[in-house]
Amino acid sequence: MLSNTFSSNEGAAQRGYWKAICEVRGPFNVSAASSGLVGACRRVAQKNDRIGAYEQASDEWLRATYGRLDDALRRAAIAAAALDLDRRCRALPKSLSSRLLLGHKRLAAALTAGGPYSASAFTRDAAFVAGLAVPSGAMTVFVPPPSSVVSLPLRGRRAAGQVWRSVGQTNLRSGLAWIGQVGVRHWAELHVDDRYVDDFNQEGLIDTYQAAAILLASRPDIAGLRGSSWFFDPSLLQTSPGLAFLRNIAEEGGCRFLRHQTDPEQVAFALQRSPSRRRASEAGAYTPTCVGMYWTRDKLLDWASRRQPVPEGPLAPAA
Ligand SMILES: CC(C)(COP(=O)(O)OP(=O)(O)OC[C@H]1O[C@@H](n2cnc3c(N)ncnc32)[C@H](O)[C@@H]1OP(=O)(O)O)[C@@H](O)C(=O)NCCC(=O)NCCS
Repeated sequence: MLSNTFSSNEGAAQRGYWKAICEVRGPFNVSAASSGLVGACRRVAQKNDRIGAYEQASDEWLRATYGRLDDALRRAAIAAAALDLDRRCRALPKSLSSRLLLGHKRLAAALTAGGPYSASAFTRDAAFVAGLAVPSGAMTVFVPPPSSVVSLPLRGRRAAGQVWRSVGQTNLRSGLAWIGQVGVRHWAELHVDDRYVDDFNQEGLIDTYQAAAILLASRPDIAGLRGSSWFFDPSLLQTSPGLAFLRNIAEEGGCRFLRHQTDPEQVAFALQRSPSRRRASEAGAYTPTCVGMYWTRDKLLDWASRRQPVPEGPLAPAA
């Protein structure tokens, strides 16, 4: 189990967590902070699958409980929840323990590094300590809690959006076939963690897809893995052929792509680090476009088992 692997580094990570807890002002109950933050994250995950939802729910809970909100309090609450994360993840497949160990190491380092706690880091850390996210390379795989009737409106809205796009971009028959295949099930979701972009490469992505396959093998209630980004756009094959692997690996594994609405944040991401994409955009030769990637569980498991057998195991984060 995870605890066997975690124990070798447990001391270092735990020292980091306690250091973060000691920085908080005023009374602070570790176990109440842990259960409060985790509960808030797990509840919101049933209703909202935006990446920022964990930040919002955690902040609301902290403000309501402590009457204030600051980075020391956020860090302490994350550290408190991290201390008993292993217990929540007891049922995770053993083969994911190295990713969780990586998550602990990174988290302890980030919590003790000082500086402002960015919204994007805080929301990812909250999902991780709630047992709703597994880090891998530059990516994090977000895994929703087991479906319940509470999540039905969210799942229904998401499914309707997929049918709508599918019909608009292909035809009615294909849209209906798609919904027949995936239904209104939850999806696991892929997000880049900008703190670890140095690990952004083909090898890391393959590792992430394998981690997702291990999770999905133990979660038949999840339709598959999805992601939405400018980097799944096929026109990158011309402007940034070095990023072709992002689309190619999933495409070869039989995943489906649908165009999404491109927001200003995605446009900024696409141009942020690349002078050549900026030049192409200014010349009108490249328009950042956001594309959704939908890799159904059967196809992802099939792809992963062709690379290496996906270990079977009980489900991820306990409810
Ligand atoms: C996603 C991301 C990490 C990919 O980075 P990447 O693998 O370096 O690939 P990019 O094409 O973006 O690289 C940007 C520039 O760095 C250069 N570069 C990449 N690796 C390099 C290396 N090892 N040495 C020197 N230059 C390098 C590339 O040549 C490229 O410039 P160019 O396009 O003008 O040729 C990066 O684009 C990023 O951080 N974007 C903003 C955040 C983001 O998009 N998040 C995802 C939201 S869904």
